[in-house]
Amino acid sequence: MSPSSKLMVGNWKMNGSLAANASLVAQLLEGIGAVSCRSALCVPAPYLAQMQHLLTDSSVDLGAQDVSAHASGAYTGEASADMLRDFSVRYVIVGHSERRQYHAESDATVAAKTQRALAVGITPIVCVGESLAEREAGQTEAVVKRQLAAVIQTNGHCISEIVVAYEPVWAIGTGLTATPEQAQQVHAVLRSQLQAASAQATRISILYGGSMNAANAADLLAQPDVDGGLIGGASLKAADFLSMLKVASR
Ligand code: 13P
Repeated sequence: MSPSSKLMVGNWKMNGSLAANASLVAQLLEGIGAVSCRSALCVPAPYLAQMQHLLTDSSVDLGAQDVSAHASGAYTGEASADMLRDFSVRYVIVGHSERRQYHAESDATVAAKTQRALAVGITPIVCVGESLAEREAGQTEAVVKRQLAAVIQTNGHCISEIVVAYEPVWAIGTGLTATPEQAQQVHAVLRSQLQAASAQATRISILYGGSMNAANAADLLAQPDVDGGLIGGASLKAADFLSMLKVASR
């Protein structure tokens, strides 16, 4: 069983400017109307103050793209969970494949970041996903289960408070999307792993990410265990993101 309303999250990655953000948010809020899905925008850290202001009184929640694994101290360049909370951040992405790949984040680091977010009441969006080589070697299930197990092990007592995003690395920014069946298969594996860890896991949203767009969103979201999307490129275009929010509200 899945949560009843879909959750659609834009991940802007390292894109935006004060002017571009203001224009994009104005278009989004003008067109959003009465969508029934939940939505959030995960923005670069320097824009949190601007976005907190722009999204006040809107139905769109604010998210960040990363959080330190430490509470405070000598960690130059990092932002703590408490700092994110100062800007009314509701969600934070942890363990995105771009951070695992370019910043050598281990499963243990991702688990620690999840713990920091949960400790201050921010919902971590925990990303898991296999590379193309891992898929071709038949390791998809083993990889995503290992990545999720590290998070469950460290955060088992409050695991029902997380969101999970399945993002096959080979589908990110490539225009290649997992088929709805491929996504459903992995989501079902993740769902049963979560349910084995907690009786309350039925409320956990499992999002799909990887070249999701206005054209393929409906088929992906129709799968029983796809509870929403984590959207990169298509979240930077107001019209595309709006049409995905509408699809997710059906
Ligand atoms: P794209 O939607 O651009 O493929 O990015 C997906 C992603 O990585 C979201 O976190």
